[in-house]
Amino acid sequence: TENIYILGIESSCDDTAASVMLNGTVLSNIVASQKIHETYGGVVPELASRAHQQNIVPVVHEAIKQAGIAKTDLHGVAFTRGPGLMGSLLVGTSFAKSLAFGLQIPLLDVNHMQAHILAHFITDASSAKPPFPFLALTISGGHTQIVKVSDYFTMEVIGETIDDAVGEAFDKSGKILGLGYPAGPEIDKRAKLGNPKAFKFTKPKVDGLNFSFSGLKTGILYFVQRETKNNPNFIAENLNDICASIQYTIIGILMDKLKRAVKETGITHIAIGGGVSANSGIRAALKSGETKFGWTTYIPKFEYTTDNAAMIAIVGYLKYKNSQFSLDGITASPRLKL
Ligand code: KG4
Ligand code: ZN
Repeated sequence: TENIYILGIESSCDDTAASVMLNGTVLSNIVASQKIHETYGGVVPELASRAHQQNIVPVVHEAIKQAGIAKTDLHGVAFTRGPGLMGSLLVGTSFAKSLAFGLQIPLLDVNHMQAHILAHFITDASSAKPPFPFLALTISGGHTQIVKVSDYFTMEVIGETIDDAVGEAFDKSGKILGLGYPAGPEIDKRAKLGNPKAFKFTKPKVDGLNFSFSGLKTGILYFVQRETKNNPNFIAENLNDICASIQYTIIGILMDKLKRAVKETGITHIAIGGGVSANSGIRAALKSGETKFGWTTYIPKFEYTTDNAAMIAIVGYLKYKNSQFSLDGITASPRLKL
């Protein structure tokens, strides 16, 4: 078989990333995370775009260097077309187009959500690959979806958030509690030390397999305001219990919908993606569901769950083998659907 080298480029949000892949195996995987947004408690699109412009050349250069190849060895350039922030996507898109044009090799446009799912097929992503058909639960700061995956390129969104993403539920709750951004990892850490049943937050009522998280954030805000009026030190005195209770509620919401998705589709293989899948409580709940609900879960290596370019390269590689090259004049697409 021929050796196919693909360069993947990801710039949809606040991480500038590049990866070189040989036949599905990662040779390099570089991510430059933008620290600037921590100051603002969230991603500032204009600053993200500017940072991508500064990072993209050195990041791509480093990825090619670490792979131990020359750029003329590349067979194709894969890039994130969407969904994401327009200003951020434009940097990766323009760069990928000019590089592919300059090298006279095919351009491969990649859907970021599809990439989170197909990251499971990177050679060293995990010991076992999910078999088709499977359900993909993609949970991050920007997305919350349940997708029915019948094949590499046959996917159907069967549930998604109607407002905030799960990661936003963690981050916005954390902001109310005075935690830094992103708050997810700290809530996770504190939740381990707290009582998940100390406080009760109402779960949203959403039809079918869809999710809603904005009500939870408002509920937490009112709860904290009420309690702080009686006791100004309420947050400080109960922080671990509050974090544990918030996380417990979020896990409950996710598991309810997963159980329902498994029941409705009859599919019992569940593949997880997105930065929130790092959450230890969610991982434990998924694992215990294997005996309780009879499903099997697949979680790839951490570096392939958060935003990265190896997941873009694997989709590029699969598309390259299918000759699914980008059309002339391809543009970034902030609201690209699966
Ligand atoms: O996939 P990701 O790195 O970037 C995108 O949003 O696309 O995900 C980042 C999100 C943030 O909202 C962050 O708070 C959350 O993942 N996160 C966590 C944990 N680690 C990261 N949330 C809960 N528990 C964690 N351990
Ligand atoms: Zn993502």
